Amino acid sequence: MRRTLESELARGRRLAADAATVDELDAAETAVMGRKAPFSEVQRSLGGLPDDARRELGMRVNEIREALRAVFESRRVTLRSTSDAAALAADVVDLTLPGRGVPEGSLHPLTLAEDQIVEVFTRLGFRVAEGPEIEDDWHNFQALNIPIDHPARTMKDSLYVAIPGHPELLLRTETSAVQIRTMRSAPPPVYVIAPGRVYRRETPDATHLAVFHQVEGLVVDEGITFADLKGTLEAVAQGLFGAARRVRLGPAYFPFVEPGAEVGVSCFVCDGAGCKVCGNGWIELLGAGMVHPQVLENCGYDAERFTGFAFGLGIERVALLRYAVPDIRLLLDTDVRFLSQWGATA
Ligand code: FA5
Repeated sequence: MRRTLESELARGRRLAADAATVDELDAAETAVMGRKAPFSEVQRSLGGLPDDARRELGMRVNEIREALRAVFESRRVTLRSTSDAAALAADVVDLTLPGRGVPEGSLHPLTLAEDQIVEVFTRLGFRVAEGPEIEDDWHNFQALNIPIDHPARTMKDSLYVAIPGHPELLLRTETSAVQIRTMRSAPPPVYVIAPGRVYRRETPDATHLAVFHQVEGLVVDEGITFADLKGTLEAVAQGLFGAARRVRLGPAYFPFVEPGAEVGVSCFVCDGAGCKVCGNGWIELLGAGMVHPQVLENCGYDAERFTGFAFGLGIERVALLRYAVPDIRLLLDTDVRFLSQWGATA
């Protein structure tokens, strides 16, 4: 029995030293000190010994139990501290590493173009007006002198809104309806622009979208002439595309102006000579004209005393020109490689 005790002490020391993890150490402790271990069998058999032998061996059992406990405990402390140190080493934060950057967004080229247009006009003294995207037939067509049989009024060209009891509601086809809302809400003089989204039943191609943006312009005052319209458009074209740009007006028909004009800007690539960007040297940008007297009257303005001009400019077309974008549909693609090229951050 004594020999068993001594050899179990030696075995306990060896197993504790060999244990590489706390789990291995727990298993070793059970093997040496658990209920089925030789050490426990010796302990159990003490009762059958004569008094003297039991006392003597019992003392040794106690000493060895304490010694084994101490061995396992001290090994446990060592293993725990090395595993803590290893975990800390694995977790260490290197404060000298460069941080991970958060990618910065940038303004959409359409927003940039709109901001630039608004800036040029507000510098000229215009104020910004707004109107609803869902319009009624009167503001979108009737008040603008668009006759009942005009093709724009059919469902083939316009998008009507299915609200029961309101067949007159449609998505506005042009920002010109804001002309009417502006004149109906205040007397002249008027110097406003109205940027906004418009909707047409169109099949998109490289230069057309079904949902796009316009900036409407309206001036009504005493003594406003066609020369004021041309001078204003020239100042805007130069503000947007550079001092060398010239403006060309050709005749065009819009029911709410008389006379009406289609306005082109000399090409920023060839300066009017003709190239593959513009074709004939000029880029068509907007429709314009002198406000029709009937439209002034429709809004309660005295057409004998006041005259005015109006224009409607496509914002996407301005973006195409300013940023040399070859296809208008790229503006809707939400491809960040395309959108981030202009890099203006919000
Ligand atoms: C109009 O919308 C008139 N309301 C403009 C106007 C206003 C004339 C005031 C007179 C007085 P138009 O349909 O041509 O006109 O459109 C005006 C501009 O919007 C065009 O020059 C073009 O720049 C842009 N545009 C027109 N259709 C599209 C489209 N499908 N996709 C993108 N841009 C378009």
